Amino acid sequence: MRIKNYLSILAISIVIILPACKQKESKDLGKEEVENYYSEKYRPQFHFSPEANWMNDPNGMVYYEGEYHLFYQYYPDSTVWGPMHWGHAISTDLVHWEHLPIALYPDSLGYIFSGSAVVDWNNASGFGTDENPPLIAIYTYHNPDIAKAGGTDVESQAIAYSLDKGRSWIKYDENPVIPNDGNRDFRDPNVIWNEDIQKWNLLLSAHDHVQIYSSDNLKEWQYESDFGIDAGGHGGVWECPDLFPLQVEGTDNTKWVLIVNINPGGPNGGSATQYFVGDFDGHKFIADSKKTSWIDYGRDNYAGVTWSDIPKEDGRRIFLGWMSNWDYANVVPTEKWRSAMTIPRKLNLQKANDGFVLASFPVDELKNIRTDEFEIPAQDISERVEINTRSVQLNRSEMDFTFQLNSNSLSGATEEFGLALSNNKGEIFEIKYSPETQTFYIDRTKAGLNSFSDKFASKSIANYKAGDNMEIRVFVDEASIEVFVDGGKLVMTEIVFPSEPYSTLEMFSTNGAIKLSSGKLWSLNSVWE
Ligand code: FRU
Repeated sequence: MRIKNYLSILAISIVIILPACKQKESKDLGKEEVENYYSEKYRPQFHFSPEANWMNDPNGMVYYEGEYHLFYQYYPDSTVWGPMHWGHAISTDLVHWEHLPIALYPDSLGYIFSGSAVVDWNNASGFGTDENPPLIAIYTYHNPDIAKAGGTDVESQAIAYSLDKGRSWIKYDENPVIPNDGNRDFRDPNVIWNEDIQKWNLLLSAHDHVQIYSSDNLKEWQYESDFGIDAGGHGGVWECPDLFPLQVEGTDNTKWVLIVNINPGGPNGGSATQYFVGDFDGHKFIADSKKTSWIDYGRDNYAGVTWSDIPKEDGRRIFLGWMSNWDYANVVPTEKWRSAMTIPRKLNLQKANDGFVLASFPVDELKNIRTDEFEIPAQDISERVEINTRSVQLNRSEMDFTFQLNSNSLSGATEEFGLALSNNKGEIFEIKYSPETQTFYIDRTKAGLNSFSDKFASKSIANYKAGDNMEIRVFVDEASIEVFVDGGKLVMTEIVFPSEPYSTLEMFSTNGAIKLSSGKLWSLNSVWE
């Protein structure tokens, strides 16, 4: 027993002492170490999480030469937020990740806050060559000394470049490229190449609005306009914007989508991601509606933005969020690391009765980790039934159900129906829809540990008008549940900390029946094994 403990401590120290150690290299460790690798309680098995210590926002997401880069807000010295670095990982399939050394360290100008990265294909910056275009990272400097002294010019925008596929970075010696403009909150630059005007556009968040800039060379930036003082939610600070064109599904029409994260002020409390659909001419963004729409109604999808430079042949706009909430991120009950990212999601812009819906749906690559597939027979559900899940490991699983809401074969229509995941400790997580009140909700009030924060136990609610059928696709990992309704038109992402893994799946319908017309379950393989 003692030897075993000693070995696990040794294995953990290896992980902590060598945060730069590549995932692949861990395969060279002894059997015990491999078994311990990524096996801590609540460690996500198919979501990205850092090997050790604190992580928040995804940063610098760019695709280059077959690799998806994921940088992230990282504090390598503790499991709570601190002086920010950019951690780094790469993937060739968005599902399996390789950890790389820290990309950007804080310096005399400040901590390295959130930002983006692009491929400078024509070497407009002059940092590379035509044969070897540079990767450019655009980030915020947050100066802690000015902050402590009560100054307002705390944040400014800077760039760094890489000539070796993101492995090493050189900071520009004339940083900052956009000095502080008097706003205390002035951060999270997001750059895109704008084909229409043949220039770069940069968006940043400035407290209660976003600012738009343009540039020919990524070094000199021209202020263009701002958006948002009179639009969207204003229950908190605007952070981490993103702006991109997206073809409207089933048409040749393209609209621009503006993503703006906000904290607090989310629809169910704390941090959340809003979006606007409109037009953009490289100078000004004009929203079709000033109303806020939410990309996710769960509590744990924040600071999400999209990958840059995904090849045209692929054509996807892929989104990734930080799976936590500033309401409690620093105190969640994980020991060696804190936080994970959501699963990557493809964004689809769909025409709706009153405008557009930005649907987000798991990328197809996730199908490659499915195993143990089996079908649940179609059936009428009334009251509460336990579903035989055979060998499927519910705590690492995917489920796909279609319910028929207007079935003539049923005697009385359901008032409310749904799914429940529970364990032997009586902890239970519920997913429900009421056709009567047209509300969808998830309930984690009794789902597991929640005493670490009085803001954690919650029921998240969304108004949702279903059609004749409702598809509910669910991804369950050790400490998270992601729910995609009707192809991602409604999404709810939440973290949970069951004291033992969920092992029972039930379906229920109150005061009437509901027809389950199809159902499938899979176990999902760990991406770290
Ligand atoms: C969003 C955020 C960003 C900032 C970063 C600091 O979660 O507050 O606005 O750049 O985190 O870590």
